[in-house]
Amino acid sequence: MSLRGKDILGLQEMTPEEILLILDTAEGMKEISEREIKKVPTLRGKTIINLFHEPSTRTRTSFEIAGKRLSADVINISASGSSTVKGETIRDTAHNLEAMSPDVIVVRHSASGVPYLLAQALKTPIINAGDGAHEHPTQALLDLFTIREKRGMLQGLKVTIAGDIAHSRVARSNIFGMTKLGMEVTVAGPATMMPLHIEKLGVRVITNMDEAIAEADVIMMLRLQLERQHQSLFPSLREYSRLYGLNLERLKRAREDLLILHPGPINRGIEIAPEVADGPYSLILQQVSNGVAIRMALLYLVVEGK
Ligand code: CP
Repeated sequence: MSLRGKDILGLQEMTPEEILLILDTAEGMKEISEREIKKVPTLRGKTIINLFHEPSTRTRTSFEIAGKRLSADVINISASGSSTVKGETIRDTAHNLEAMSPDVIVVRHSASGVPYLLAQALKTPIINAGDGAHEHPTQALLDLFTIREKRGMLQGLKVTIAGDIAHSRVARSNIFGMTKLGMEVTVAGPATMMPLHIEKLGVRVITNMDEAIAEADVIMMLRLQLERQHQSLFPSLREYSRLYGLNLERLKRAREDLLILHPGPINRGIEIAPEVADGPYSLILQQVSNGVAIRMALLYLVVEGK
């Protein structure tokens, strides 16, 4: 099995074997980040373009660090600094970037489907770094890696993904990945933030947060995606936090070895209380560290494939 030259667009179309190959490769990559000299020559002479048309702290920086730790040349392009502000289409921009012979293009865009459009238009492999409310495959891969690192396995674990499911590309990618690897996934949140027919993806739906927490081995809290909500989906932020926020009181119902994940950025005091985000169950910063290893693994597998 090889991912060399392949587009990495989403976990929906990935096989369990491909997902496990990436997680296993990331274990070796993580060791590189723990060395004093965090650099290997694996991708020397290769060029990676990060084309980010939506804000990002974690994903963009970790793709850049990942590329540089593998000795690739990394070029970052944002929407505001590119000729799209002069009216150039994203497709024309991508064709022009391809003319400079990159080995891979990493794309984030606020519109669902843009990485797919570019994958059809270009020969250069495309990695989806998050498209609209559709998929965020590298986030789900780092989440799976973080859970497996803590628990030693994934199969059979009960996971609750809680919050604004309807607007979350992280939820979608995780649902695809987790169900493929035999995890039991529950989605919890207000009915107004639950996509129609979500249970067809193989998940259980719960609207009572206390019930969802009591059963979970892992809980993944989602950011309230106010920028993607075009109408008010709950009476107030305070009400949302009271009913669906993860706080110390609610945590009393949880298992003692609960793992808490959040893809970031977090809305402190809304979907997660600061003392929970910074507390002993939280893996939020481990997720960020593991994001570098996952992106190193993907760049290596897509560009070199061995
Ligand atoms: N989790 C995540 O995608 O964060 P950024 O938007 O900061 O990249």
